[in-house]
Amino acid sequence: MEPAGHNPSATTADNSAVRSVTGDDAPAGIAGGARRVRVHHLQRAKERGERITMLTAYDATTAAILDAAGVDTLLVGDSIGNTMLGHATTLPVTLDDMVRAGRAVAAATRHAWVVVDLPFGSYEAGPEQALASAVRVMKETGASAVKLEGGRRSAAQIRAITDAGIPVVGHLGYTPQSENVLGGPRVQGRGDDSAEELSQDALAVQEAGAVAVVLEMVPREVAARITEFLVIPTIGIGAGPEVDGQVLVWTDMAGMTDWSPRFARRYAELGRALQQAAADFAAEVRDGAFPADEHTFDQ
Ligand code: KIV
Repeated sequence: MEPAGHNPSATTADNSAVRSVTGDDAPAGIAGGARRVRVHHLQRAKERGERITMLTAYDATTAAILDAAGVDTLLVGDSIGNTMLGHATTLPVTLDDMVRAGRAVAAATRHAWVVVDLPFGSYEAGPEQALASAVRVMKETGASAVKLEGGRRSAAQIRAITDAGIPVVGHLGYTPQSENVLGGPRVQGRGDDSAEELSQDALAVQEAGAVAVVLEMVPREVAARITEFLVIPTIGIGAGPEVDGQVLVWTDMAGMTDWSPRFARRYAELGRALQQAAADFAAEVRDGAFPADEHTFDQ
């Protein structure tokens, strides 16, 4: 007999702890007929010219919805600092924050490849620290890969994590954890010297064993050139269309706040819809329209 209050359908054998809105199976995406996107699907997508889709996710409910939509990969980004935790930057985000969010997202995902960001302060000290942080993420979340920022400066860390059997996604261009050096969110790789530096970093990330690299706020021509000479897939955010995939922060993409960066398209206005729903709820409670008979238990 099931223990009281246990709902056997709430946690399925494939570890999906949260049901999506529709419950429909996700469209195929880069995994083709395979149920779960795995690391080799990213490489195959690049070789076949199929675009990779990635959105951020920070909690189980949202992850289940994005997963059901057929998004190939979910990034538990340290943008959780700005989007969910009320910080002005990603710098205060801790490994504990990432582990908690990573576990929620991985538990709610049936299809997507889940990547967890290593936050500022969890890998810069060297390969040993980076490996310990990555191992903790993998052991405690159920994610499939980690992401970290930096090119040549992070190559030894990427190598150490990769050698331990953990896939790594690199992150180049505008790297928010270095915003105090970069002077805020600014396009990186403009001009020949800067583009050359970025290309060297991209090669270093690939040679260190990364399975993919995010290019953030990079001129399209530079991103296109890097995409051309790298063997691993590039995933752009503000890097133009000539990359192997696109990533957006889900709250930007869904219009959760009034402002979105120029490189993000707003596919919905969920912030306004949510505000209206909350206002309707409050009004109906105040005038007695909610709860109605159908929301009420009789003796
Ligand atoms: O943390 C994040 O959301 C990211 C994306 C912007 C790529 O790193």
